[in-house]
Amino acid sequence: MLLSAFFRYKSVLFFMMTFSGFVLLGAYILTMSLLSAIPLSDQRVLRSNDNNNNDNNAILPGDTVNPGALRDEGVSRHNRVLHYSVKEKDDGSSAVLKKKHDSDLHWQKSGDVTTAPNDNSMIYVDDDDDEDNVVDSWRGDDEDDGAILPQQANANVNANDKGNDSSFVLPRILENATKKLPEAIIIGVKKGGTRALLEFLRIHPDVRAPGPEPHFFDRNYHRGVHWYRKQMPSTIEGQMTVEKTPSYFVTREVPKRIFNMSRVMKLIVVVRNPVTRAISDYTQSFSKRPYIKSFEQRAFIDNTTRLVDTKWGAVKIGVYAKHLERWLRYFPLSQFHFVSGEKLISNPAGEMAKVQRFLGLKQIITDKHFYLYGSRGFPCLKKPEGSGRPHCLGKSKGRRHPYVDPEVIQRLTDFYRPFNLKFYQMVGQDFGWT
Ligand code: A3P
Repeated sequence: MLLSAFFRYKSVLFFMMTFSGFVLLGAYILTMSLLSAIPLSDQRVLRSNDNNNNDNNAILPGDTVNPGALRDEGVSRHNRVLHYSVKEKDDGSSAVLKKKHDSDLHWQKSGDVTTAPNDNSMIYVDDDDDEDNVVDSWRGDDEDDGAILPQQANANVNANDKGNDSSFVLPRILENATKKLPEAIIIGVKKGGTRALLEFLRIHPDVRAPGPEPHFFDRNYHRGVHWYRKQMPSTIEGQMTVEKTPSYFVTREVPKRIFNMSRVMKLIVVVRNPVTRAISDYTQSFSKRPYIKSFEQRAFIDNTTRLVDTKWGAVKIGVYAKHLERWLRYFPLSQFHFVSGEKLISNPAGEMAKVQRFLGLKQIITDKHFYLYGSRGFPCLKKPEGSGRPHCLGKSKGRRHPYVDPEVIQRLTDFYRPFNLKFYQMVGQDFGWT
């Protein structure tokens, strides 16, 4: 009876078994692919997004971390390493760069960061005043790229202290590393060569610096000093923390705020011929918004009288003497070091020797580290032990400037001359622009 029923319905039974087999197989594949895409939180390790990818960069026990400047290495259930780079934008939103496998060369856009660098150990954001965040990196030339209490000054605070941010709570990783407030800040000037200087400094083993510009003393002051400290990479004894945010030099409130945090802060300013600097600034804006007025139309109030528009940011930033006056109300000249933007290109080792001396560092960065690579005429950093092409700044550095009528350049040079002379006098150094 049973046997005859089996034979009568064997094709139906066969069909049902095959069908459920397929359903189970499909469910298994779906579950496994979902699991592989989600990193296990208890296995997640966050590292600071910094050049030297060693354990000193690891986030500390119970640390609360803001997404800015971090790279997340999550391990999926299939032991595949997943990388995330989370960038916090000005409006508070985050943009996430995601790299699926260790073997993937390219970062995928997952948010609104636009560039996809292919070297995850070399990512940083140069957040120019009038620009969206720009993910930048050193790469081969042929690739297109609050009040704060004074006693908190230079506090070497253990990173176990909790900040106010509550983005991620992380597992224990490293006991003895600390995050320090900076001892030196590259405060300006925009388009002077600040990124090159910071990247050159970062090759020094006793210097640690965050890649992105923290903008603490101008835009993020309300977040408090704990936030600021958290933006810094972990350091071990003997290492100095440095940051760069070029807009500090021209922001009225900043000198007092830095003074309130640390009156012994070392301040570095990279200066460049203000006329070239203005053109460079304009070039940057133009590269973002090609519909803007011409340089000449912006530089002069009226093209016939050729009266310089001193309200235009690109012009204002170059009046270095005026800005410096404000800083000198708080800090003595001995706490400043001025780097020639021009010499940083023509003689990087010479300029870096002076910077190392000013910072009290061993003379480690020398001409052995630099290499003129490609056709752009900018120094690049040699990679260690002949491991491939040198590291050059990305394409947003060293842009081709638009043609500007020599008469316009002359008019601007005349405008800046008295301010330049005053500046030379104030700092006791002639930069040779006039
Ligand atoms: P241009 O793009 O006008 O040439 P900042 O990093 O402060 O925004 O400065 C950008 C400027 O750094 C560039 O301006 C470029 O001239 C200068 N610079 C200095 N050293 C450089 C280097 N090694 N590679 C590329 N640009 C460099």
